[in-house]
Amino acid sequence: MRNGTWSAVAVGIVAVGLTKTAELIAPKTSLMPCILDDDPGQLEMLTSLVASMGYEAIPTADPEQALKLIKRGRCRLALVDVHMPAMDGYEFLSQALQSDPGVHILLMTGDYTLDSALEAIRRGAADFLPKPIDRAHLKKTLDDAAKLYDQRRRVRVLEEQLLRDLEFHGIVGKSPAMLEVFDFARKVARHYTNVLLAGATGSGKELVARAIHQLSPVGQQKLAVCNCSALVDTLLESQLFGHMRGAFTGATDTRPGLFEYANGGTVFLDEVGEMSLAMQAKVLRVIQNREIQRVGSPEVRQVNVRLIAATNRDLRAEVLSGRFREDLFYRLSSIQIRIPSLAERLEDIPLLVQFLLHKYNAAYGKHIAGLTRRAQTVLLQHSWPGNVRELENVISSACITTAGDFVDLGDLPEHLQHRGPRGLNGDEWRPLSLEEVRKMHIQRVLEMCQGNRLRAAQILGIGRTSLYRYLKRDGYDTNKTKPGNVEA
Ligand SMILES: Nc1ncnc2c1ncn2[C@@H]1O[C@H](COP(=O)(O)OP(=O)(O)OP(=O)(O)O)[C@@H](O)[C@H]1O
Ligand SMILES: [Mg+2]
Repeated sequence: MRNGTWSAVAVGIVAVGLTKTAELIAPKTSLMPCILDDDPGQLEMLTSLVASMGYEAIPTADPEQALKLIKRGRCRLALVDVHMPAMDGYEFLSQALQSDPGVHILLMTGDYTLDSALEAIRRGAADFLPKPIDRAHLKKTLDDAAKLYDQRRRVRVLEEQLLRDLEFHGIVGKSPAMLEVFDFARKVARHYTNVLLAGATGSGKELVARAIHQLSPVGQQKLAVCNCSALVDTLLESQLFGHMRGAFTGATDTRPGLFEYANGGTVFLDEVGEMSLAMQAKVLRVIQNREIQRVGSPEVRQVNVRLIAATNRDLRAEVLSGRFREDLFYRLSSIQIRIPSLAERLEDIPLLVQFLLHKYNAAYGKHIAGLTRRAQTVLLQHSWPGNVRELENVISSACITTAGDFVDLGDLPEHLQHRGPRGLNGDEWRPLSLEEVRKMHIQRVLEMCQGNRLRAAQILGIGRTSLYRYLKRDGYDTNKTKPGNVEA
């Protein structure tokens, strides 16, 4: 099962890595070989030989110029002499593959041996040709390369088309599990019912909530988003229900809450499982009686909002343990949609990578064409505990650090670079103490959350104060917070 999925994914992602090459291919004949040789006689002879095969070639004796042609995507194939004074063929091969891993480099040499041919191929050469060049062999190699590039161009066009077709309100996915989510969301959106979105952190719950709102009959009305875990009870109550001036210290003016703001539209209650029982009772009243009261006001106001709630907890288990009201659970979950984790839909990774590269190329003014094959492999072997958010962070920071046209292994975060293939039991087992395991686990979760301690505490299922206590014990400076932390 995994193997089947795996090969399908592997085939898909190769096309992502070929973005640049494929994009720049116009008609089939635009293979445009570059011929690199320091001997002017050879250069002239090879250029006319290649021309007689139907391919217009660019001859040069300068390796730097040839590298530029490859980097700019003008030449997708190069015929390169091994022995050159300025740069030998192997060095050229390595630099050329660095700027375009999809380029075909054919090395030519006067002293051919089987060993040197195998070495060249091991280093990524498309072929190793003995001089004098065998005409038929070269023609076949050029024709095969032209065919392959044409194929890749068509795959690329189809992938672009697929991305357009498979984007559902900014949500990308082609796995059966995600297509089912889109289909279900489309169906339930039309009906004015509450929806509960369940899924791991970063799996796309908020995106789905926004899509449901947009597709609903109240899509033109307001959508208010409230993160129930980010605020203490009193602030959460005031945010949802509003408050009167002087209702509590700091309430310097009278303000409507999100229910009033989004009246006639939708309120999205994110992390609803983190709400206290007292707040749950107040939300239940909104659903049952469509009534709210601003904090500090006796006046009862009518509101009519659709509720979409999201949780990364097992709410049914929370009900059983008494932490979540059963009546509210049933009211919220008349329709429940489970968003699958990224590990359950690895086949979405190529499309997501393509989508995210578009997004961050545009944001950072870059032209990154894709990922090298080894970087693709690493992404496909990771377990993605932080789901699409984690993938998005990886791609966005890679877009910043990548200097070339392709994201390579070194542009990925350290912990991805040094990981072996995903084993059944995760990392290699070592007999650690519980204390050490706890420390390591906290570190990893923090890393995954990019240092956001509030989110880390939620995932760890502990309070923020407990997390701080542990961090202090482990020698962290708890006064320092990483940029971007939202800690209410
Ligand atoms: N299928 C997807 N296609 C494109 N982008 C996605 C997809 N899923 C998630 N994202 C992106 O990943 C990030 C996290 O998504 P989102 O906030 O919707 O997740 P979440 O499930 O609400 O997370 P949390 O539980 O942490 O609140 C966002 O930047 C979002 O744009
Ligand atoms: Mg969310």
